[in-house]
Amino acid sequence: MRRLDVVFGVFFVSGLVQAQTALPIEGKDKHLGVASCASSTCHGSTSAFADSNVMQNEFALWQSQDPHAEAYQILLNDQSKRIARNLGLKSAHEADMCLDCHGDNVPASARGEKFDMADGVGCEACHGGSERYLSSHASGQASHADNLAAGLYATEDPARRAELCLSCHLGNKNQMITHRIMGAGHPRLSFELDTFTWLYPHFEVDEDYVQRKGEPNGARDWAVGQGVSASTQLETLLDDSAGWDGIFPELVLFDCHACHRSMFGNQWVPRRGTGLGPGVVRYNDASLLMFRHVLAAIDGAAGEKLAGQVRDLHVSTTRGRNETVQAARAVMATLQSAIARANAAEFDRGMLEKIMASILADGERGQYRDYAAAEQASMAVDAVILAFENNGVLSADEAEGMRSRAEGLFEATKDEDGYRQSRFVEALNRLKMSAP
Ligand code: HEC
Ligand code: HEC
Ligand code: HEC
Ligand code: HEC
Repeated sequence: MRRLDVVFGVFFVSGLVQAQTALPIEGKDKHLGVASCASSTCHGSTSAFADSNVMQNEFALWQSQDPHAEAYQILLNDQSKRIARNLGLKSAHEADMCLDCHGDNVPASARGEKFDMADGVGCEACHGGSERYLSSHASGQASHADNLAAGLYATEDPARRAELCLSCHLGNKNQMITHRIMGAGHPRLSFELDTFTWLYPHFEVDEDYVQRKGEPNGARDWAVGQGVSASTQLETLLDDSAGWDGIFPELVLFDCHACHRSMFGNQWVPRRGTGLGPGVVRYNDASLLMFRHVLAAIDGAAGEKLAGQVRDLHVSTTRGRNETVQAARAVMATLQSAIARANAAEFDRGMLEKIMASILADGERGQYRDYAAAEQASMAVDAVILAFENNGVLSADEAEGMRSRAEGLFEATKDEDGYRQSRFVEALNRLKMSAP
């Protein structure tokens, strides 16, 4: 299911990536429509070209296996109809609230002649409106930097890619998956950048790819993805309209099972690191927890500082809105520089070992009380094992062995409603015995 042939360890060159920062949906360039990409001499070939930089069968792959091609059609199904009815919407497929994530919902003025909303999450929803780059990028004369300058979105850069994917897979302050939408019947969203990047790929990492775009690195993608996820969520909390719903903060930002749990009592145990007592709704800090492992491996003192700031954030939510805003701003400031450090870090053996040890140690520290954190930790362990394998710390057999022991983590997080911290910690301890 995931890539097999990526070699890690080469420092990623990402000097070009600042050219375009607006998300595709916010850019000024017209979106010309999937049909503009799909000609058989462009990306619409039925099989991969041998003598081209890119495969050129991206359209066929997207159409036949990528769920993004179905994203709009889903809005016509019974589940969507029920969600729309519950929310009092006329119809799901005409509501911006749904189309922002299930289509390429750019303003009418930015839609070219072949643009078709029914294409769902099409090429330009991720690669940016092609008005300026369509002909130049196909000429074979333009460099990747030229294409970026002409409006191509830097999907290869982990931070930019994380912002893009998370705009729909977590929601951002302009595109929210609110608790009201959840309440109406929308599935809970869950995302991890490295895992999700490789689920339905229409691209291949080969020699010329590395030359044009640098070497991908799964551990780095995971790390940067967690940092961007944490900051996207805080940005929503800090936004006056998106972060609040009446007298309550937007509930989707909080740990779902702080509220959605049985009422029999005698179950409460403290979660160290939050400073919170019983009966409090906790901010969902799963990404912050994961990113702390990364930062701690880069710079121990900076990791401690972030842990302290996250604790302040938790406590501030029991004091008031102004205190919360202040504490959230402090965490944001730390994240901004830390994400850049993670992006530039070399995920070598020493660093990976520290990250893995830190993830495992949190089990004993009682940090996996909340389902969301355990779920993210399972995906993190998976990303780190693969990275160990790719940079030669583990042989293929050893990695396979470790992966099968890590299955216990996925077992323990399979049933969200039946999640038990004790089972998860047992699984972590079994894994600990085999960690390199
Ligand atoms: C913030 C972005 C976002 C918004 C807003 C949003 N969705 Fe979704 N929706 C998603 C994502 C992402 C998934 C896929 C989740 C996954 O599989 O990980 C999804 C999944 C779904 C599914 C389940 C699809 C399946 O394959 O089972 C339905 C139905 C759905 N959305 C309907 C709606 C409707 C109706 C609205 C508007 C009221 C809406 N969505 C608003 C992002 C969004
Ligand atoms: C959900 C987002 C998304 C959609 C939709 C999407 N892509 Fe991509 N595409 C990516 C990502 C991520 C990569 C890999 C990172 C990179 O190389 O930029 C990529 C890579 C590519 C590459 C580069 C391969 C290389 O060797 O440099 C091409 C070409 C491409 N996509 C074409 C298309 C076409 C054509 C469509 C529509 C049929 C499409 N993509 C739809 C996200 C998307
Ligand atoms: C414009 C919104 C949008 C963007 C941007 C987007 N996605 Fe999605 N994605 C969706 C929706 C909606 C679905 C659900 C579609 C469905 O179920 O058919 C989905 C589904 C998926 C799935 C399938 C999930 C599953 O449970 O099988 C993967 C994997 C995925 N997206 C990865 C990515 C990655 C990686 C990126 C960034 C490169 C990305 N997406 C960017 C909206 C988006
Ligand atoms: C502060 C408490 C609180 C938090 C946190 C919270 N919820 Fe809720 N949720 C509620 C309440 C209260 C209702 C019931 C509203 C009603 O009955 O109309 C509800 C209803 C729901 C429903 C509808 C259940 C039904 O009866 O069909 C879903 C689904 C849901 N929440 C999902 C989530 C998810 C997913 C999260 C985390 C991202 C979350 N909730 C976080 C309090 C919360």
